[in-house]
Amino acid sequence: MKVFVTGKLSQRASDALMNFAQVDAYESDEPMERKDVEARLEGKDALVCILGDKVDGELFQLRPQLKLVANVAVGYDNINVSEATDAGVLITNTPGVLDNATADLVFGMLLASARRIVEADGFVRRGEWTGWKRELMLGADLNGKTLGIIGMGRIGKAVAKRARAFGLNIIYTRKGDDKKTDDELKKKFDATRVSLNELCRRGDFISVNCPLRKETRHLIGREEIALMQPHCVLVNTSRGAVIDEEALIDALEQRKIGSCGLDVFEHEPSVPKRLLALDNVVLAPHIGSATRETRAAMDELAVKGLIEAFSGKLPENTVNPEAWQKFSANLKNQTINA
Ligand code: DGY
Repeated sequence: MKVFVTGKLSQRASDALMNFAQVDAYESDEPMERKDVEARLEGKDALVCILGDKVDGELFQLRPQLKLVANVAVGYDNINVSEATDAGVLITNTPGVLDNATADLVFGMLLASARRIVEADGFVRRGEWTGWKRELMLGADLNGKTLGIIGMGRIGKAVAKRARAFGLNIIYTRKGDDKKTDDELKKKFDATRVSLNELCRRGDFISVNCPLRKETRHLIGREEIALMQPHCVLVNTSRGAVIDEEALIDALEQRKIGSCGLDVFEHEPSVPKRLLALDNVVLAPHIGSATRETRAAMDELAVKGLIEAFSGKLPENTVNPEAWQKFSANLKNQTINA
């Protein structure tokens, strides 16, 4: 079988894939143009891609031999999953292996915002420091404050685990309504489930950890932001479009909320000039999972799923298991015809 990879995989993942398939890889870290992906996909059975690669029905129509797309990311908002399912294309993602790295960055951003670390760094570098002062660069304690976690999935839980060590009280929102999970979260993190409005009102710190779906686009809009406290620190490491970016910038400019840590943006990689001009914002270029260990684990999980699927086993990290039957039938037909 033939695979196209839109980037360079880590060594172990690359070795495993090469042992299994004929691999064509784009050997650069620069994003690929869609037309180049289309061209290189000719005759390929599978695509290993990243979140900058848009995957949709048009692509499946153009390349009907394509049977599987392994997205090297936990989020898959770059993929039209229902069109993939209709076309019998199996989609996999990389859940579970990036929770700690992402939760670490949440805390990096919380601390950087609450303790003004980036601002302080610039202050020292510019030679503006003239000596210790009682009121120099005053920030906020984390200990004893309330952290609101929006989205209590794997990453949200990894954030909650760290929050306990920092002495934060935890409130959260999540999808689903089973009491058992809420009871477990209470027991494990002393975390209390609240409505989104209550979380916005009560959070001294708020971390956005839900995926981007139709129902979570602009989940945090002008009304929700208006409920937040003037000192609230908001951190987003999920997807930019979960927050209405323009409403957020307005609130930051008017100092209606305290500060913000943003690893993700609504129209990446473009970052609004108004945001760049603010000193109450810490910015990062979507690096939540960017540690050597985590990126290697993501590559390995993506390759493992691909090998399993083409060996006849439904991978655990399948996003659309409902496509499995069609995928298996396509694979069988192709083997018979070959
Ligand atoms: C993901 O996995 O969805 C991250 O945003 C990129 O690692």
